[in-house]
Amino acid sequence: MIVAIDGPAGVGKSTVAKLLASRLGFLYLDTGALYRAVAWGVLRHGIEPTDAEAVAGLLTKLSLQMEVTSNDVTVSMNGTDVTKDLRTPAVSAAASVVSAIPAVRAWLLPVQRQIGNKGSVVAEGRDVGTKVFPSAPVKFFLEADPTVRAQRRHHELVAAGHRGAIEQTSAELAGRDDRDRSRAMAPLIPAEDAQHIDTSSLSADEVVNRMLAVVTAKL
Ligand code: DC
Repeated sequence: MIVAIDGPAGVGKSTVAKLLASRLGFLYLDTGALYRAVAWGVLRHGIEPTDAEAVAGLLTKLSLQMEVTSNDVTVSMNGTDVTKDLRTPAVSAAASVVSAIPAVRAWLLPVQRQIGNKGSVVAEGRDVGTKVFPSAPVKFFLEADPTVRAQRRHHELVAAGHRGAIEQTSAELAGRDDRDRSRAMAPLIPAEDAQHIDTSSLSADEVVNRMLAVVTAKL
């Protein structure tokens, strides 16, 4: 069983995907962490994220491993655990840029599907329901008011020790959204059969309970 959860940044995807996976005893697949790991490698090698040719060339030198449990992912790049380095604003922006490069998406597709083959999975990202697992029996597309999304992301960043104004977070989110929605390959769009949930005024538990009702009806 695959549960696909897609939506823009700051809608609460990671929080509810982890809770849902834990409640169901499924694995949690954070596909964004894979794009972030590639971005981390690109920045680490001093490559410009927009340089598609150089990024594609780097992929041949990268070895990526992802370990998943029901509420956690660990990403290793060439044998080093990079999980804790993946959530900085610089990596977020670079991940959005490199994710538009077809070679990157093609490289990460089998990695994601391999994890999906390991058992029942709650997978979250941008194209999980449309491209990675198009035949997933349950798909959700989360949305939320842009102001609410900026506030949520800002609180996360502050809690992680990053400084910066909420206006900056808001502008970064808007830029990332535009890029993720407008790229030619696998843009952020809802799958036709996805159930839409607006999380603006819902708690994580309320969202998870709605999802649980849908998933358990399919089990
Ligand atoms: O979910 P996230 O914020 O960790 O994702 C970081 C970036 O990775 C996001 O801006 C776009 C890209 N991404 C993608 O293109 N496809 C996915 N399935 C997941 C993430």
